[in-house]
Amino acid sequence: MSVSSGKAGGISSIIYRVPTLEDGVGIYSLVQNSKPLDLNSLYSYLLLTAHHGDTCIVAELEGGVVGYVSAYVHPKKHDTLFVWQVAVSERVRKQGVGLSMLTGILKRPGFQSVRWLETTVSPSNTGSARLFHSLARKLNTSCHTSVYFSRDLFEGQSHEEEVLFRIGPFSMY
Ligand SMILES: CC(C)(COP(=O)(O)OP(=O)(O)OC[C@H]1O[C@@H](n2cnc3c(N)ncnc32)[C@H](O)[C@@H]1OP(=O)(O)O)[C@@H](O)C(=O)NCCC(=O)NCCS
Repeated sequence: MSVSSGKAGGISSIIYRVPTLEDGVGIYSLVQNSKPLDLNSLYSYLLLTAHHGDTCIVAELEGGVVGYVSAYVHPKKHDTLFVWQVAVSERVRKQGVGLSMLTGILKRPGFQSVRWLETTVSPSNTGSARLFHSLARKLNTSCHTSVYFSRDLFEGQSHEEEVLFRIGPFSMY
């Protein structure tokens, strides 16, 4: 699948592009500073970049990673992009970077068959919920929610349930 990069969004000097392996440490550090996200291993971010880079995106400002979305095409639903993590550096939040990254992936060549987007959101993460409701509005489509991973599945960890947001159908073309 070919990919695109370019400038977009609320801050004109931000570059949106496919992540490279050299972004791994910057991605790890961004997620580490983006509470309440779960921090995964650096290895997992490198693996996601190596295997699913075409469906992930970074926002770069002044040579540093200020935004990151990890995502992949659902292995059982080929018309659905599953978004795993979205992180935006505090210094550029609420300026459209999160929305620009999500739409940036969906606009890439090769995504014609993707008509749905799924993600999970913790009930207390209002910023995340607002981001995805805003995306549904922008795509002129609906957002259906249902519990995906109930709290008891996280036994022994202080983790909220994860609610599935299913957005669509939509067409970017
Ligand atoms: C959630 C997060 C990714 C949003 O990124 P962002 O670049 O600030 O989002 P945007 O500027 O594109 O905003 C999109 C919409 O969400 C709203 N929004 C974003 N953050 C919000 C917050 N903390 N509280 C309320 N609304 C918020 C914006 O107002 C905007 O709404 P609108 O389109 O109706 O005006 C960012 O705050 C973040 O990294 N948080 C920490 C990590 C996290 O929780 N990630 C999400 C879980 S996967």
